[in-house]
Amino acid sequence: FPTLSEAQKRELHETALRIVSPGKGILAADESVGSMAKRLAQVGVENTEENRRQFRQILFSADDRINSCIGGVIFFHETLYQHSDNGVPFVKLIRDRGILVGVKVLAAVYKAMSDHHVYLEGTLLKPNMVTPGHSCPTKYSPEEVAMASVTAMRRTVPPAVPGICFLSGGQSEEEASIHLSAINNCPLAKPWVLTFSFGRALQASALRAWRGHKENEKTATEQFIKRAEVLFPDMYCR
Ligand code: 13P
Repeated sequence: FPTLSEAQKRELHETALRIVSPGKGILAADESVGSMAKRLAQVGVENTEENRRQFRQILFSADDRINSCIGGVIFFHETLYQHSDNGVPFVKLIRDRGILVGVKVLAAVYKAMSDHHVYLEGTLLKPNMVTPGHSCPTKYSPEEVAMASVTAMRRTVPPAVPGICFLSGGQSEEEASIHLSAINNCPLAKPWVLTFSFGRALQASALRAWRGHKENEKTATEQFIKRAEVLFPDMYCR
């Protein structure tokens, strides 16, 4: 990695490790405007910039309970420039609580990374779990999903990568958390931290609770916290 100084390498590696520190994973709030249109339509909310801002504020203003569950938040470009109701930039709101902010950078960058032998210790992988497709008639147990997911990772992801943060990829919140737990309990050697980068599985209940109504904001935030805390329950024995 001739272009990276030792200090830069240390910073990248430490950033990656902080995001996946024990009990933590990623809140993927990086839905594009088009993806948000689909999510908001489900709860009868118009896809305006203000409504996207309000829903994301519900997540980002959750109290300190999420500090121990969420290591990083991925923003969509638009969110980088948005502020809370009382004028605090969302980036500051998240950073002030010790959570890292990232921004989605979607396929040319990945191609360039591979061409340029990117420093793996400073990266995290964000893959899908290996689950049966929606039209598949066969039911697979969480243990089978976990075995297939960890096997696929063991065959492809070098141990130098500090963490693998699985997407929820259209699974229900319940399903995604059960699968993540099975993945962590899978009896294969796993040289990486295995955690989450959930979009829908951290936001679906909050979105349903909100439905675009101001009076539902607190309940919506509570739903988000509940989903985040359930992912590694042993870490939060309060
Ligand atoms: P889903 O969990 O909704 O699949 O989104 C995950 C993600 O990381 C998107 O960037």
